[in-house]
Amino acid sequence: MKRPIIIDTDPGIDDIVAITAALFSDKLDVKLITTVGGNVGITHTTRNAVDLVTFLGRNTPIAKGVDEPLVNKPKTASQVHGSSGVGTYQFEAEGNTALLSKEHAVIELRNNIIDAAVPITLVAIGPLTNIALLFKMFPETKENIKEIVLMGGAIEGGNATPVAEFNIFADPHAAKIVFDSAIKIFMCGLDVTRLTSVTAGDVAKVKEQGTVGEMIAEMLAYYKQTYSDDAITIHDLCTILYLTHPDLFQTKRAKVNVVTEGEAAGHTVVNDSDDGNVFVCVDADVEAFREEFIQVFVETI
Ligand code: RIB
Ligand code: CA
Repeated sequence: MKRPIIIDTDPGIDDIVAITAALFSDKLDVKLITTVGGNVGITHTTRNAVDLVTFLGRNTPIAKGVDEPLVNKPKTASQVHGSSGVGTYQFEAEGNTALLSKEHAVIELRNNIIDAAVPITLVAIGPLTNIALLFKMFPETKENIKEIVLMGGAIEGGNATPVAEFNIFADPHAAKIVFDSAIKIFMCGLDVTRLTSVTAGDVAKVKEQGTVGEMIAEMLAYYKQTYSDDAITIHDLCTILYLTHPDLFQTKRAKVNVVTEGEAAGHTVVNDSDDGNVFVCVDADVEAFREEFIQVFVETI
């Protein structure tokens, strides 16, 4: 049976790759996509989600979420993803706005989780503002969440600051609420996303796979300006490949504290713990990851 998931996202080029991989997987059932402000503002992240789902010929429901963090001022990553969030790429067809719920993302998250026959896996690949609000407004939803698979944080290092990863740094107060929720979390942080980079050669193979491959390749051509030909780090893709190929990844169990104020704001303090709720990804089979990245698109044509 397919695993029911909800993706909370701030597309964003690596989000686009992750969402496409999820929609193409025969192991995952994407029940809902909720958008959040992050890489770019909520108007662009929501439009990108609608345009992508339309382009892929799917009818996955989408709900627009929160634009700004709980406390801090918004920070974007438009220098990485372009002002639109998808580099220079232009979806040809007008997005099907009928996909968009009239309800706010937090309400749709509540409705989809509370009524789910099978506990939902939450895939969080942007700032955690929507998820934090869900837990504050509807704490009962925690009972029907199997686990949260998130891209965020790091044992060491950062990309928004020397000690903080963007998704956590963008809204550390929301991240603290989520990590303190005691729900099982698979944390796919920079430690593993930086390990599982793909190459320009891998992307060239994807480009050969029809219009979807061409779309992915054009977006990554913009995105790789921040990276390099030999190490294109598609951070968010890690969460989906963990769900479809868990054996590629190694984790360690921990408790994670999020620093919310001061110079280290957004830092994730990873304390090893035999009864921690967080499974932090520490290693992966890089060759196999790169091959699975290519296969996502090969199998779709
Ligand atoms: O640090 C990488 C994360 O921040 C990814 O989710 C990327 O899309 C940005 O949101
Ligand atoms: Ca993202």
